[in-house]
Amino acid sequence: MKLLVMKNLFKIPVDVSELRTEYQTENALGQIIRKKIRFFRPDHKFVRNESESEIHVSDLNVFIKGNQILKNVNLTIPDKKITCIIGPSGCGKTTLLKTFNRLTDSVEGVKITGKILVNGEDIIGSGAEITRLRRKMGLISQRPCPLPMSIFDNIAYGCRIHGIRNRRKLKLIVKHYLEAAGLWEEVKDRLRTPAVRLSIGQQQRLCLARSLAVEPQFILADEATSSLDPISSKIIEELFMKLKQNYSIIMVTHTLRQALRIADYVIFMYLGEIIETGNADQVFNHPQHELTKKYLSGAFS
Ligand SMILES: Nc1ncnc2c1ncn2[C@@H]1O[C@H](COP(=O)(O)OP(=O)(O)OP(=O)(O)O)[C@@H](O)[C@H]1O
Ligand SMILES: [Mg+2]
Repeated sequence: MKLLVMKNLFKIPVDVSELRTEYQTENALGQIIRKKIRFFRPDHKFVRNESESEIHVSDLNVFIKGNQILKNVNLTIPDKKITCIIGPSGCGKTTLLKTFNRLTDSVEGVKITGKILVNGEDIIGSGAEITRLRRKMGLISQRPCPLPMSIFDNIAYGCRIHGIRNRRKLKLIVKHYLEAAGLWEEVKDRLRTPAVRLSIGQQQRLCLARSLAVEPQFILADEATSSLDPISSKIIEELFMKLKQNYSIIMVTHTLRQALRIADYVIFMYLGEIIETGNADQVFNHPQHELTKKYLSGAFS
């Protein structure tokens, strides 16, 4: 059963496991940012060291309390593309996404078999370094969850706890990531106000900025726009379209129209199985499997 707590100050219900993960991610910031800061320039661009970032999944099975949730999953997530995971409710989309950063570890009674290779390194099994893995995976959840502090501090928090005190450097970092998330112009005059005063759409972009600050290679987004108004959703979609130049974006979406708009690559799931994968044009316009055809025609949702 999920535990819920209330953030005292703002009365926002927060999933404890989600909060813990966010803080773990923040804790992982230090070394990366410290390293980056030495060379940090205002004209810093997102340039990744790795030439390729791919996820290869083979024979993945996930059981929760004896129930098989994911069944013999085999797939490859392409680099620098938007991959949309689609399928009816309960088919295992979130579970699959959670396996990519080992969030499944916190699920009671979970058993996982198979392989998930992230840049060639198997992340299933006891040898995997979870903190390093999560650093690579920026996570954007359905409901934005800003830290209970100012807009500025939401981004600077990770830097400070790892010893970066220089105000000028902190300002550069905060500006850089707020610009990357398309929020700078809207908040530059109120950086010291509490982040929770932002609109929900702005909060989601703040969370995106905070995720980008760990310099991930992948962005995992589970229905990241479902709690947003149409304009905010469009802004996030447009950001993803820009960010895919440097990141591999994996997005779970319930909205077929959204997948049609932004997906480069599509994974269609049904009852824990991968039914069809392929380039968006191929899956949407020439689906091979009867189930995919039915789902796309709206026969079930
Ligand atoms: N912690 C858990 N304990 C027991 N069963 C779980 C748990 N998490 C997920 N499941 C089950 O696994 C299956 C897949 O769930 P999942 O959340 O991955 O589906 P989904 O495709 O993301 O659905 P939705 O579109 O509704 O978000 C469901 O039957 C769900 O009940
Ligand atoms: Mg889900």
